[in-house]
Amino acid sequence: MKRILVTGSVGQIGSELTPKLREIFGNANVIAGVNRTQPTGELKESGPFETVNCTDIKQVESVVKKYKVDTIIHLAAILSAVAEAKPNLAWEVNINGLYNVLEVAREHKCAVFTPSSIGAFGLSTPLDDTPQDTIQRPNTMYGVTKVSGELLCDYYHKRFGVDTRGVRYPGIISNVTLPGGGTTDYAVEIFYEAIKNKKYTSYIKAGTFLDMMYMPDAIKAAIELMEASPAKLEHRNAFNVTAMSFDPEIIAAEIRKHIPQFAMDYDVDPVRQAIAESWPNNMDDSCAREEWGWKPDYELPAMTKDMIETLSEKLSQ
Ligand code: SER
Repeated sequence: MKRILVTGSVGQIGSELTPKLREIFGNANVIAGVNRTQPTGELKESGPFETVNCTDIKQVESVVKKYKVDTIIHLAAILSAVAEAKPNLAWEVNINGLYNVLEVAREHKCAVFTPSSIGAFGLSTPLDDTPQDTIQRPNTMYGVTKVSGELLCDYYHKRFGVDTRGVRYPGIISNVTLPGGGTTDYAVEIFYEAIKNKKYTSYIKAGTFLDMMYMPDAIKAAIELMEASPAKLEHRNAFNVTAMSFDPEIIAAEIRKHIPQFAMDYDVDPVRQAIAESWPNNMDDSCAREEWGWKPDYELPAMTKDMIETLSEKLSQ
């Protein structure tokens, strides 16, 4: 990676991955691709930014040409709950947008990183220790676009030699930018509410386990996979990666170690609950560990402690 374009740079992952890439590869070498939401603060000041709507192939191509981009980190996507409400939009962005990025990458010889997700699985998948290669019959629009995206990335590698790589991210817990419209968002909201109000109403039922990861590990996964020697990669796209698995009761108990008065009740959202139940309880990420040395730094206790310290400071300002 030398000249990098990040699409979706103001989103949950982009707003933290873009500054990290600038730190490593140089501010001028990392272009923040923005669409509707304009960048602010450090993201805006620290390096170049350009309007890149991935559904417009000409826009993607002109930025790649202008900056001689060699790597596209394609983060622009619609998350699961929004995708159920707006399936058309999810197809347009998650499929047609990815197709445009891959076409530009083929033409201009760029490497591409694309996140897939735990959403690429469904009820017929083994939901405990979900294997790397297994049944994938998701019943959500988000899942349909994610499985198709995995296949499309594999195809572009095999057929055209494009250096495509990617991981299946679990729910990402972070404290800079809120996720927008996902099923796993409760695991982020719970921290904001615990600190602000000492209580949280969960839309996910007790006993519903999902894979999760703290943002520093999500960033580490993307960078380490893109820097890994291709010789070692048997899989290229859609590596299972996880750091922890919990249900609402377990994370609430961990938060109570820091905020003893924290109280939680439930008002279950049937749409997001059904989505969560169709996703793995915990994935087996041994292929990522073997092929490129994946190992997370944060488990539940360390993540919770850091989230509470960082967010408490942020929310007190
Ligand atoms: N965090 C995503 C969502 O909940 C899953 O990849 O939609």
